[in-house]
This record gives sequence, C-alpha cells and structure tokens, in this order.
Amino acid sequence: MRAVSFENVCFSYGNEEGAFSLNNINLSVEEGEFVAVLGQNGSGKSTLARLCNGLLTPRSGKITVLGMDACDAANTFEIRKNVGVVFQNPDNQTVASIVEDDVAFGPENIGLPREEIGRRIDFALSAVGMEAYRNATPARLSGGQKQRIAIAGVLAVMPKVLILDESTAMLDPRGRKEVMDVVLRLNKEKKMTVLFITHFMEEALLADRAFVMHRGEIVMRGAPREIFSRADELETYSLSLPAVGQICRKLRQKGFPVAECLQPEELAKEIERCAFRQNI
Ligand SMILES: Nc1ncnc2c1ncn2[C@@H]1O[C@H](COP(=O)(O)OP(=O)(O)OP(=O)(O)O)[C@@H](O)[C@H]1O
Ligand SMILES: [Mg+2]
Repeated sequence: MRAVSFENVCFSYGNEEGAFSLNNINLSVEEGEFVAVLGQNGSGKSTLARLCNGLLTPRSGKITVLGMDACDAANTFEIRKNVGVVFQNPDNQTVASIVEDDVAFGPENIGLPREEIGRRIDFALSAVGMEAYRNATPARLSGGQKQRIAIAGVLAVMPKVLILDESTAMLDPRGRKEVMDVVLRLNKEKKMTVLFITHFMEEALLADRAFVMHRGEIVMRGAPREIFSRADELETYSLSLPAVGQICRKLRQKGFPVAECLQPEELAKEIERCAFRQNI
C-alpha cells in the first residue's frame, strides 16, 4: 500500500490568489520507504508535513494517507494515530511537567496497556539517549534535550509513518547520528515509513529517495546519488553537495583524477588509489 500520496495538491495560508505555499504537488511514498525532503528555507517542506497528518487541509487536490482521505475530518484521529510528526521547534511540543509523562502521552492516547507503555518509554528514552532524564522537568531542559524528548514522544507511539521535520537540527553530532541510527533501524526492521526533512545533505544520502522542493514545488526527485550528481542544478535551488562531494569536485577541477564520491570512506579510498597509481 502507499503510505502517502498527493495528487495535484495546492495550498496557501492566506486568501490571496496566486500565492500558493504549495503548488500542484504530486508525490507518492510507498510503505517502508525512507524519503528525504530537501529545500531552502520557505520552500514548503513543513507545510507538506502539516498536510500529511491533517493539521492543514489543501485548497485543492487529494491527499491519501495509509489509504485514508486526509481531507475527510472523520479520518483525522486515525491518521494522527498512525502518522507521527516531530516539528522543528522543540517548544510547544511538550505537554506534561515530567519527562516520562510527556513520553507516555502518545501511547496513553492510543490506549496501550500500562506495561507496554512502560516498555515504550524505556525504548524511546534510550533511543534518544535521555534515560537519565526520566524524572526531569521538560521546561528546564536545553533546546536539544527538549527536542530529544519530542522525538522520544513520537517514537514511543511507533507510528506507521514517521515525519521528522528538521527535528535533529538542534542536536549535537553524536545525538544526530544516534537518532538517525534508530530511525534507520525502525525503517529497516519494522518497515516504518520515514519522511526525513533535513538541511544536512549527508543525512539525505542515507535515504532511498529524495525530493527537492523549491518555491512550493517538487523540482527534483530520485535516488539521492542521482540528485547529487546534478550539483549545478542543486545550486540553482540554493542547495549544495555533501561536504565530501564538494571536496571531490574541487579536486577534479584541479585535475586530480578522483572519481565522484559523496562519503568520507569513498574519498579516502579514491585518494589512496590515485596516490598509489602516481607512486606518491
Ligand atoms: N503559519 C503561516 N502563515 C502564513 N504563511 C506561512 C506560514 N507558515 C509558512 N508560511 C509560508 O509558506 C511558505 C512555506 O513555508 P514552510 O514553513 O513550509 O517552509 P520550509 O521549507 O519548511 O522552510 P524552513 O526550511 O525555513 O523550515 C513560506 O513562504 C512561508 O512564508
Ligand atoms: Mg520548515
């Protein structure tokens, strides 16, 4: 089954004609897919996320989520139960005054038994490295820690579709990698569908597919490596290659015969190969 599909979807926040935040979006995400969504500020990524779980409804077009019409208010509860979204701002995402109650909120809402809720809290807090903060007060945590709790709250529900809207941007590099590893594992092992909105090109590289948004439209789509092979086009949308790809490009411009690489290990191997060939 398709997890999410948009057919000719237009959306605008205001009433003015011709100023759509999303303009004629067509997309489909299969169940179990891991899709990265890229795009400069204001390109429409968060708007797309809000439409996926019924927080917003389109001006025109059709949105289907797990077989349900997202525009039909009767489906909103079922959609919210199955589509977990972590937004980019960690404030306004906590609901309780103790971390564990906050993480329990989602599982309680879907009526899970008490012991299962306990297990979910353990799993979710450990997934984000916050076990030690179980009894802490969310309001007194740092921005990155609050964001980890918001991610834990959504993971604890084990939604069929997980949407992370730049949710790891505030995390330190290690925290970001840990969350990415958990999300990748849930995607591979539990077939959780993931929409990963990010400004980190290295993270997009780990996705099965990527969409590039620009001024409310999807302007590029395909395997991340295919998208990153079109560096000039990406630049026109104010996006860049992962750092390794940029280094590689510079080396090639200077006549160093490395193949195009996007990950550190690949580039190290290429440089080794070239050095060996040239007897350096
Ligand atoms: N609550 C709102 N009211 C009015 N306009 C909005 C609102 N939220 C977003 N917009 C407009 O909709 C467009 C898309 O915004 P959106 O937040 O979806 O972009 P984004 O790609 O998520 O950007 P960012 O990378 O900064 O998070 C922008 O032009 C923005 O000004
Ligand atoms: Mg956004």
